[in-house]
Amino acid sequence: MAKQKTAFVCTECGSDYSKWQGQCSDCGAWNTVTEVRLGPAGKRGAAVSAGNRAGFAGARPEAKLLADIATEAVVRIASGAGEFDRVLGGGLVPGSAILVGGSPGAGKSTLLLQTLCHLARGRPCLYITGEESLQQVALRARRLGLPMDQLRLMAETNVESILAALEGDAPDVVVVDSIQVVHSDDIASAPGSVSQVRECAAALTRHAKQSGTVLLLVGHVTKDGSLAGPKVLEHMIDCSILLEGSDDSRFRTLRGQKNRFGAVNELGIFAMTDGGLREVKNPSAIFLDRSEEASSGSAVMVVWEGTRPLLVEIQALVDESALGNPRRVAVGLEQNRLAMLLAVLHRHGGLHVGDQDVFANVVGGVKVLETSADLALLLAIVSSFRDRPLPRDLVIFGEVGLSGEIRPVPSGQERLAEAAKHGFRRAIVPKANAPKSAIPGMEVVPVRRLQEALAACE
Ligand code: TYD
Ligand code: MG
Repeated sequence: MAKQKTAFVCTECGSDYSKWQGQCSDCGAWNTVTEVRLGPAGKRGAAVSAGNRAGFAGARPEAKLLADIATEAVVRIASGAGEFDRVLGGGLVPGSAILVGGSPGAGKSTLLLQTLCHLARGRPCLYITGEESLQQVALRARRLGLPMDQLRLMAETNVESILAALEGDAPDVVVVDSIQVVHSDDIASAPGSVSQVRECAAALTRHAKQSGTVLLLVGHVTKDGSLAGPKVLEHMIDCSILLEGSDDSRFRTLRGQKNRFGAVNELGIFAMTDGGLREVKNPSAIFLDRSEEASSGSAVMVVWEGTRPLLVEIQALVDESALGNPRRVAVGLEQNRLAMLLAVLHRHGGLHVGDQDVFANVVGGVKVLETSADLALLLAIVSSFRDRPLPRDLVIFGEVGLSGEIRPVPSGQERLAEAAKHGFRRAIVPKANAPKSAIPGMEVVPVRRLQEALAACE
């Protein structure tokens, strides 16, 4: 009788070992190495390399010249939600496998149900629910007022049945909610275990590649923030996106972690409402809600939040101190950085604020830890001190060094482009961040030293 093959795999990171050990040597997690049955011999190897072999028809594999390989322009399927498409790199690519991760309650099922109901109007779609009953899904769709007439629904967790249904239905887009509950009869371990998740995801992905179906897999995030069986899935899927949101905020962010068809530095922002997830079309300015008239002590800067520029207003108030030891209070900013910047302002800008209380605040409760806020903060302080408002259409960013030099910050071009999009017409930026070609409708003042920046807002 053939010996049953087993391996020991870490449930956190997917590393495998030939024998059991208490701690995973790769990720350092304790008690995560579990025994996994590999199923009939040779099956696993076949599953992994099937995709690679598919391209070689003859007996002797032959290498091709890169330039000779015919590529057709992929026609992406627009998901209907601009923010979702943006994270995917412009829409769903036929034949791709996309993993949508997130903690429970983030809104993964809601997002995918909404997307699929809209997509189903133009092409065959199938929603496979393994966690909720058909009634629950239907109730939600009805409550959200989604178009329900075209979407086909199935409650199934067995991967063989799912594959059979896919063969029969041949949908263009399929959602499997979630991969952790899908199991195969061929594998002895429990649903949700590494081997089940890996083999089921591999089978579904293979089907997607062969049939050109878009496969959307829902995956749960474990308590430490990683996708259950993370590395196991990551190499076989094409895109991995994460839906995140804190409990006290209605905003949800969709972030690309891996994308074979686009950049990963895209961030989609949604708001969870009682009518489901709504796109936030202008996320970069959600924290920018300014009064009509210019006021002194206020400046707008562009910070880099995650992977997207965000416009935020910074306010400063400089007032004569009644105390012997004037106060320096920073909300949303680092206290020490404020003290340091005030010293730079005195030494290199010639502005003496030693006898003044200085308060600084980032509007909207945003926390700014980036050094690109330095220059905007300094100019806001000067504006308040002189009681002279900065122009309302001015945007500022740049790091301030201890010798009064203005240092460049990453992604200067993108920051300027974002500000221009929101109607800002002037910008004070570090010399090295000055755009090579002019930005239409925007006057950029590149500065090298603090004095130049002060002179620019005279
Ligand atoms: P759900 O999509 O079920 O999350 P997931 O599949 O990621 O676990 O969304 C669950 C949460 O979303 C739930 O806690 C309530 C909230 N929600 C709303 O606020 N409004 C709505 O219209 C819907 C459908 C959900
Ligand atoms: Mg769900």
